[in-house]
Amino acid sequence: MATPTRFHHQPLNHHHSASKVIIFFCLSAFLGVALVANLFRASLSSHYLSIATNWVDTNAPVLLIPNATATPDTNNKNNEKGGKSAKRRGPERFLSSTFADLPAPEWHWEQMPSAPVPRLDGYSVQIKNMFYVLGGYANLDHVHSHVDVFDFSINKWVDEIKMPKEMAHSHLGVATDGRYIYVVSGQHGTQCRGPTTVSFSLDTVTKKWKSLPPLPEPRYAPATQLWKGRLHVMGGSKENRHTPGLDHWSLAVKDGEALEQQWRDEVPIPRGGPHRACIAVDDRLFVIGGQEGDFMAKPGSPIFKCSRRHEVVYGDVYMLDKDMKWTILPAMPKPNSHIECAWVIVNNSIIITGGTTEKHPVTKRMMLVGEVFQFHLDSMKWSVIGRLPYRIKTTLAGFWDGWLYFTSGQRDRGPDNPQPRTVVGETWRTKLHLS
Ligand SMILES: *[C@@H]1O[C@H](CO)[C@@H](O)[C@H](O)[C@H]1NC(C)=O
Ligand SMILES: *[C@@H]1O[C@H](CO)[C@@H](O)[C@H](O)[C@H]1NC(C)=O
Repeated sequence: MATPTRFHHQPLNHHHSASKVIIFFCLSAFLGVALVANLFRASLSSHYLSIATNWVDTNAPVLLIPNATATPDTNNKNNEKGGKSAKRRGPERFLSSTFADLPAPEWHWEQMPSAPVPRLDGYSVQIKNMFYVLGGYANLDHVHSHVDVFDFSINKWVDEIKMPKEMAHSHLGVATDGRYIYVVSGQHGTQCRGPTTVSFSLDTVTKKWKSLPPLPEPRYAPATQLWKGRLHVMGGSKENRHTPGLDHWSLAVKDGEALEQQWRDEVPIPRGGPHRACIAVDDRLFVIGGQEGDFMAKPGSPIFKCSRRHEVVYGDVYMLDKDMKWTILPAMPKPNSHIECAWVIVNNSIIITGGTTEKHPVTKRMMLVGEVFQFHLDSMKWSVIGRLPYRIKTTLAGFWDGWLYFTSGQRDRGPDNPQPRTVVGETWRTKLHLS
């Protein structure tokens, strides 16, 4: 995991009038402590506010600390006391809101037609030149129950397919075999309703849905992939949306139908939680990034109003091999979550676009990710290869004819503010040149 870059304090110059300097720093230390106390109070009180503060409310207070206000170190005497005073000074370390951004080449992006609707927590699969974009939230009180279809060969949104009424709208598990799309569990409904067990397949040729055996237990945003003829579903959150699940089940499927009556238990995943990328490459299955914990419904709320809970975002990479053994591989360059469909496989590497990283350590605000990552499947090494037009989470990625595409998700508030703001349906592409 990359260590966040901190803004180092200026060394103090003692050649100037000592008493003035001491008064100045006593004052600034006092102001600093007062400001930090306020920040913590503000972040605490917003902790249990509606999810809107963090997701869609554009009027939420912005607690940004301009990078120029990094406070100088108090004085050399404190330094001598070592760890203890350093710890006490901890909160006084002001961090730029953008400190988690990693250096990355700027790419030229070209805007394509936007999706018919904006969506957050949508899902996607690519079948040749067709890109199927499923469900998602328009906002917390409105979820989509259709599939939008984009044709990469003509760069147009060409179709809309209705989803079954019982099917989950967001936080799905999705996979494809090149004709059928499998949709497992997920969240049914608006706000922070819980997950369901119902599962379906869609024949993209006839546009007909079929039921699959229900998952043994409801899961929210489980890692899902079709691997060697079996649909694998693991991790995710349990019914309360927050508690990480470690269970791993599989079901033999062919041509959109289950070949078995029931899901089979498989070796549990070492770490649970939702919002991870799950990718099969030959006889290896990769599960990348994710988080533990998520927003939950406010107890007693008739509309299941979302309220923020403690989350830990991680960049862990797990690989399941043909002997069904898990191996831990090098972690992503930074913790990253909300990347279920933000990946493509190109030239024996996995490309991942955007996501969310750990919350800001001072403001506690959610921070989005704007980098494009590459995981080399031969060397098992990560690199940061480019930057998106903005930071964005739950984006849906595709690759066609040398172009990397992404559409939809929730973008940041601007170049200097990585907090989530507008839910978009924008579609972008860039010519990909991998080394
Ligand atoms: C501080 O912010 C300004 C404006 O956003 C930027 O140009 C500058 O590079 C930043 N400085 C550091 C140290 O990040
Ligand atoms: C993939 O590799 C081939 C062969 O080395 C190369 O021609 C191509 O440009 C690469 N693709 C991308 C997207 O860089």
